[in-house]
Amino acid sequence: MSESSRTAASAAVSTLPRPATYSAALRLLHWLSALCMFIVIPLAWYMTELDRHDPHRVMWFTLHKSIGLTVLVLTLIRIFTRLSGTVPALPARIPAIERALAHIGHGLLYLILLGMPISGYLNSYAGGHPIDWFWLFQVPAMTSPDRPLAHLAGQTHRLLAWATYALIAGHVLAVVYHQLVQRVDVLGRMTGRATPDAENK
Ligand code: HEM
Ligand code: HEM
Repeated sequence: MSESSRTAASAAVSTLPRPATYSAALRLLHWLSALCMFIVIPLAWYMTELDRHDPHRVMWFTLHKSIGLTVLVLTLIRIFTRLSGTVPALPARIPAIERALAHIGHGLLYLILLGMPISGYLNSYAGGHPIDWFWLFQVPAMTSPDRPLAHLAGQTHRLLAWATYALIAGHVLAVVYHQLVQRVDVLGRMTGRATPDAENK
């Protein structure tokens, strides 16, 4: 291939239309996971305040664990879906440093979406507490009771909870900032309403 045709080919590739929004599957998985997170966290605050002898305590814990494990399943499907398709590139109007921060923030959110349920799961099973997923079936155990592991997983769960609050707050504030201050329609990329030239409006 001559130099000029190679340049023309690479220019054609770089001008190929990129998706303006996340795919419908990724959008659905994002909003379902977000909804689960906004339920599971207040549920945790409520259930951990209950008296040990409260007759409904086990019910609230089962609900927390079931929704938490649902987040794990949604996230595994989401990571697989994301890796097997394309996602929109962050608009060039957003400064490079902010795009880098967005990538790091999103990566950390994925770690939370995996780390919270996994540490919760290990805390429960290593502590000898089986999990009834929405009272439908018992989730298979991958560890036998193990006090040090239960302790470590519990500490991790409580520590990661703080990272969860910080990352979600930062994530939502970043969306609001890009939307209202920079006037880049990032929300439209996750709701499906963004158009390819939305960043130029
Ligand atoms: C996305 C998933 C999850 C999130 C965001 C989450 C969040 C939380 C939060 C914020 C707390 C309160 C921590 C504190 O007291 O400071 C908590 C406690 C707890 N979570 Fe989760 N959780 C998730 C998944 C799970 C799962 C899947 C399980 C078990 C299968 C689980 C079991 C527990 C238990 C047993 C506690 C009480 C721990 C204690 O008081 O020491 N969690 N969770
Ligand atoms: C009101 C709440 C929320 C809003 C408005 C929101 C909005 C958004 C938007 C607009 C994007 C796309 C960013 C881009 O243009 O690339 C995004 C991506 C993302 N959000 Fe949220 N989000 C919310 C809650 C959450 C929660 C609770 C989590 C998880 C704990 C979360 C995790 C993520 C992740 C991991 C991405 C990156 C997606 C990817 O590139 O694969 N979001 N969010």
